[in-house]
Order: sequence, then structure tokens, then C-alpha cells
Amino acid sequence: MDFERYDRIRPIRWEGDQLSLLDQRRLPFVVEHVACRDSEAVGRAIHDLVVRGAPAIGIAAAWGAVLAARGVDAVDGAAALARLAPALDRLQAARPTAVNLMWALARLRRVLAAAGADWAAVLEAEARAIETEDLAANRHMGALGAALIEPGSGVLTHCNTGSLATAGFGTALGVIRAGVAEGRIGRVFASETRPWLQGARLTVWELLQDGIAATLIADGAAAHLMKTGAVQWVIVGADRICANGDTANKIGTYSHAIAARHHGAKVMVVAPSSTVDMATAHGDDIEIEMRDPAELLSVAGTRTVAEGVQAWNPVFDVTPAGLIDAIVTERGVVMAPDRARMQALFGPG
Ligand code: MRU
Repeated sequence: MDFERYDRIRPIRWEGDQLSLLDQRRLPFVVEHVACRDSEAVGRAIHDLVVRGAPAIGIAAAWGAVLAARGVDAVDGAAALARLAPALDRLQAARPTAVNLMWALARLRRVLAAAGADWAAVLEAEARAIETEDLAANRHMGALGAALIEPGSGVLTHCNTGSLATAGFGTALGVIRAGVAEGRIGRVFASETRPWLQGARLTVWELLQDGIAATLIADGAAAHLMKTGAVQWVIVGADRICANGDTANKIGTYSHAIAARHHGAKVMVVAPSSTVDMATAHGDDIEIEMRDPAELLSVAGTRTVAEGVQAWNPVFDVTPAGLIDAIVTERGVVMAPDRARMQALFGPG
């Protein structure tokens, strides 16, 4: 597949002494980068959604750890780890639901604990590896996921799971890119993803850069669309996949999955193994991020709701494994996921 044609956006750029992040709060009309020169700035950028998407926040945090290490004088990795622990803890606390953030920092802690005097170089190499492995995983998942799709299918995606949410190419959007390139996907629908509008502001913009036609729908139009028979697969990413296959993803994924089951469409979750959390038994144990209700009370900075109204703003939900037809990872595909099938691919955890 022609990756140059289908994958041209990079949200995260390590520049040797600073991390440059494409500001996803301002897309699609303003393409601007935010320079982070210390780990606190990276933590803020993750919390404020300058950078977002489960794999992308893990990668950004890894580079944040590299920034935190600048100026630390330590004889070996274990000594450096002791000095860096508060900064790593702060990065980890930036957002609670996507396990990729915790996974990336745990991976850095492990390599640091074993590193010698060259620990700073080891840390930087590991951050780079986290980024390059994510891109390779996405490209591989694109092929694995596309192979499940019958030629001529219509697909619906939710939130943004593309290059913007990853090191590049994307997870669910990577499968859609591969499916379109292979002629398997006839029509792409994207739901707008209230309240932050990742679908409306980011996904359809990304697809436009690729020359892939996409039709935007309101979140509430998904069931009605599926009833028409226009959608064969709902293809989404994940922020955390539990040991039994329950999957946390952007709020609204669960209702798309219920509608899909009702109308005979299938649900595909696409995520790298860094999103799989075998230590969490089931979805009830995932912390769902609650964000400022103000995100619901305005649209594009303009207040749309009367003063004095209360709002409730959970930004993820959990789709039970029973509603998922396939979980696609770079290690392979789990069809009709349950604990035994997850364990067969990922071990006991
Ligand atoms: O709040 P966000 O925009 O970080 O939420 C992102 C999602 O829910 C994505 O679907 C998920 O992280 C997968 S990204 C490849």
C-alpha cells in the first residue's frame, strides 16, 4: 500500500531539545504547533488535548520523560529513576483512561531501572522505539483489519483514530485507509463525536488530505443510518481493552455498538497491544475520565446553553465484549473476544 499517499500528518515531532505538538484544539482551520520544553508542558498538553488519542498520549509522555531527564545528573539508571519519579508520576496523572499513557511510562521505568551510566541515551532510544513501533503496528493492523471487510462495504467510525491519534497512519482509521486502498470499502461515514468534535474537526479533515470521501453524521444519526443498511462495519479504536475484551473508547462508542448489533452491522475494535490491559479484569474497573461540563455548554467557544444549566461530561464509555465482533491488534485478531481468547493472544496478564 502507498503509505506516502495515505499518511501525511504527524502530530508529534521530537526536535532534539523540545517536543513539537500539532495543536489539535485548533484544527482544522488553524495548523499550529505547540513547543514543549519541559515535562510539565507535555503533561499540560496531554491534559488540555493539544495532543490526544491513546497511542499519541503515550508517545508524547515518553518524550516528556526524556525532557524531564535533561539536567539530571545520576550515576546509573536506578539513580536517575529515583530522581525522575515525581515527573513521571505527574505525566501519568495527565489523563486516567487510556492505558497507553501508563504503559509507555512503565516501559521507560523498566529500562531505566536496568540501565547503566548511559541511561540518558537508553531512555531516549526507548522513547523513539515506542514511537516507531506504534507506526509499524498501525500499518500491520491496517492489513489485518481490512482483510475482514467484504468488498463494497460501508463503514462508520467514531472519534479520531488516525495519524493525529497515533505515531502515524492510525488504528481504526488505518484499517479504513487500507480498506479503501484495497477497494473493500465503498463508503465511509464518520460521527461528529460530541462534545469535542474529534470526528467533525479531525477525522474528516484527515480523510480529506488523503482524498478519501467521507460523510459526516451527527452522533444521534448512527442508528438511523444503520437501519438503512448502509453500514456493514463500525470500526473504532480503543483507550483500554480489558482482559475479557470489554473496551473503553470515546463516549458514544457503546451506543453505536448497541445499534450495530440491533441492525446486523459488525463492530471492529482496532488497537495496538499497548492498549490491552490484561491486569484489568473487566470494564467496570476502568476509570472513566470526567471532563469539565463547560465542554458541553458551548460550541466552538460560543455558549449555547442557558446560564444555570448543569451538565454531565464523561468522555469515554465501555463497550462490553459481547457487542464486539473482532479486536484487531498487531499481534493478531481476536474474533468474538472473551477472556480465554484474549489470554490465548496476550497471556494471563
Ligand atoms: O479524548 P480523546 O480524543 O483522547 O479520545 C480518543 C479516543 O477515544 C480514540 O478513539 C482512542 O484513543 C483510540 S486513538 C487511536
